[in-house]
Order: sequence, then structure tokens, then C-alpha cells
Amino acid sequence: MTSNPATVRRREHARYGAASQQEFDGPLPQPFPREIGPRAMEYLAEVVDSGLTCDMVGRFEQAFAEAHGVAHCIATPGCTPALAVLAAAFGFEPGDEIVVSSVSDYGTVQGLISAGYIPVFADAAPGTINVNAETIEACISGRTRAILVVHLTGLICDMDAINEVAARHGLVVYEDACQAVFGRYKGRYAGTLSTAGAFSFDAEKTMGSDVGGCILTNDDDLAERARFVGQSRGGEMVEHFGRVHTVNGFAHRMTQSTAAICLAQLEIIQPQVEKRDRMIRLLSTLLDEIPGVSALPIPPETEVYSCWMAGFTIDLEQFRCDAEEFGSQVAAAGILGASQARYYLLPAALPYLTEAAEKKRFPYSQPPASRTYHYDAACCPNAHELLERFIRWSTFCDKYEPHHCEQVAAIVRRVADEYRL
Ligand SMILES: Cc1ncc(COP(=O)(O)O)c(C=O)c1O
Repeated sequence: MTSNPATVRRREHARYGAASQQEFDGPLPQPFPREIGPRAMEYLAEVVDSGLTCDMVGRFEQAFAEAHGVAHCIATPGCTPALAVLAAAFGFEPGDEIVVSSVSDYGTVQGLISAGYIPVFADAAPGTINVNAETIEACISGRTRAILVVHLTGLICDMDAINEVAARHGLVVYEDACQAVFGRYKGRYAGTLSTAGAFSFDAEKTMGSDVGGCILTNDDDLAERARFVGQSRGGEMVEHFGRVHTVNGFAHRMTQSTAAICLAQLEIIQPQVEKRDRMIRLLSTLLDEIPGVSALPIPPETEVYSCWMAGFTIDLEQFRCDAEEFGSQVAAAGILGASQARYYLLPAALPYLTEAAEKKRFPYSQPPASRTYHYDAACCPNAHELLERFIRWSTFCDKYEPHHCEQVAAIVRRVADEYRL
């Protein structure tokens, strides 16, 4: 693999949204075509009929913030840009470190890397897919400024313990809540459990539009900086001159038409999340009954499991195949999109960063870097071990009924029986 795009002529591009699931057609419900909230056309018409004068983005921001009981929502074109805006708005120095979950989508780290910060990947807690206070604390150095946690699949990290560690070290905590929208932890929503939360409303997500996302925060100053940096491109109005750019900002604004769809989706999301919670709990019970197969454990603090991606692990000692083969067999048997997701192990999926750290390119040059960095699967042994036996499908959706969970369990049981030693 090379990190120089100019030297690569042909490559298979990653695909997203409905395009990534075009060929999926099987016995289980598929997310696409998605249900869109019934008022979407009305809101879209308002945008068009008003000649782009109605503030649909502002309406969506207010509604999403209110639904979460939070002061500010800043709408963005996705979670990747939301996290890039947050990284810039925090205003740390290049070479400062952010401790971040090791198992996630690339969108979690793109922004902090672009801001010149150094990701330090915290391992997953043993036997789980998420970080915890102990795995985070092991990564903290004198250069650490923040902790970015991901609630992967919709399972919510133990935020009370994580916030306590952060307070002891004087660190900011923020959340990538992309996969956990309206999930609840001890009575509070994912994305409201720290200084700020980032969300995705991309087409595949639980609250899906075309592309979209947002930031939630109760911090007035952070909200102001995020709007300035993320939406005003860091431009200030100066008398007798006009715009001057006091920081290198972005134009990461959500479009009015996306806001119209998001507002309509917000009106139908709660029952969908509750349905996902019920279905994933049923499915987990059924999967746990299969010898050698375990559903991801649901911690008691995750009161509502807003499950975006269903998954299970296999005990490799009990089968004469690896997780990749197991996954392809369950996919062939009808759980479309099921596969091992090795690429979710971020330190093993960023060759350009591995190269930058090895060659000590900026910001890995000394100074300012505080230590020697190396990124590969060995950085996070628990996460690596888990992903080697993990099979998941992001086509799990709110259209599942109990009989679909039974169908899934029957498929997994059949494959397990076939491969059992
Ligand atoms: C955990 C997580 N973070 C970030 C992203 C990126 O979100 P977006 O596509 O809205 O940029 C995703 C998308 O899959 C995700 O699952």
C-alpha cells in the first residue's frame, strides 16, 4: 500500500449509502429503500417555495437540540465534518494528543488528524468492542488534551467512569455518537454525556438522510467557536474592509434540503430506535443460545440500545474456519452484508499515518511529538483479538420483526453446526 494518491492509478473505491448495498436482496429486511418521515415533502417544498429564505437548518438544529435537552446543535454535512469542526474549535496545538477509540470508522479520526493532532488509540476493554476508563487512562501522557470515545454499534461507553478519569487529568471528553442516536445511558442520551457529541445522518444511519450530521453541546463558547470555524469559514466582518479570516475555517454547513429531510426523520426516529432496542435484545438472547457464538454483551448502563450494526463473536477454538469464512457463509445464507470488519481496527487501517509516524513527518517530528508512535494491530491487542472473531452486518434495521431475529439465529446456528469441530 502506498500513501501517495498520485502514484495510484486504479483502485477500488469505498462505496457508501444505498450504492454500497445495491446487490442486497434476500429474506431479511434491508434498510433501502428507507422510510422517510411523512412530512419530508412538505418541508422540502417550504425550502423551494420560500426561494431559499426559510431557515430549515435552524429549525432542525432547534428541534434536535430540544429533543436531547441540550442548548446547542450545530448542523454539518456529516459526522466526519462535525468532528473536524470540533477538532478545530477546541484549538489545541499541533502535536497534542487525542486518546481515541481504536475500533471505529475512519470518520472518527479524519478531523483530528487534519488539525495536526496525534491520535493515540485506546484499546477495547477485554471482551468488548468499546474503550473504558482503564484502557483510556493507560494512554494518557503530558501531551494529551482530549478523549474522543465512540459508542460502537450503539453500545454506550461507561461515560461516568471515563469523565471521572478525564476530570482527574484535566482533559476534555467528547463523543462520536454516530452509531448510537437516541441511545440512552443512565437516563441520558448518547452524545450528551460529555462536552460535545457528534452525529451522522448519512443514508445508512439510523436517522438517515442523504448526507448530514451535527454537533450537540451545552458549552456556549464551544458552540460559538464551532459555528465560527465550521460555518463562517473563520471569517469576521471588519468595518471598512469586509471579511477577514482570523482562523482557517471550513464551509461545513448542512444544506436546507438535508435539514428538511432530517427534520422529517426526527419525527419518526424514537419508535424506530425503541424497535431496534427490542429486536437486538431478542437477537442477542437467541445468538447466545448457539454454542461457540456470543452476541456483543450489552452493559446494564445502556438502557436503550440504539443498535445500528448487529454483530456477534465466535470462539475460534470451536470451529474449523476463521471469522472471515464464517461471515461469508452467513452472508451467502441470507444475512446480507455480514462480514468480518477487520478495517474497523483503526491503527491497522491507516497506512498513511503509520508512514507519517515512522518517517517522523509533521506532527510526528521531534519536537513537538511527545513520544515515538507506531500504528498497527499490535497497538490494541484486545480490539485486534475481538475483531479477529467478530462478524457484523450494518444492514440490521428497524424493519426487523421477531421472526427475522429467529431467521438470523437459525442461519448462524446452521453455519455454526456445519463448521463445528
Ligand atoms: C462511528 C462513526 N463515526 C463517523 C462516521 C462518519 O460519518 P459521516 O458519514 O456522516 O461522515 C461513521 C459513519 O459510518 C461512523 O460509523
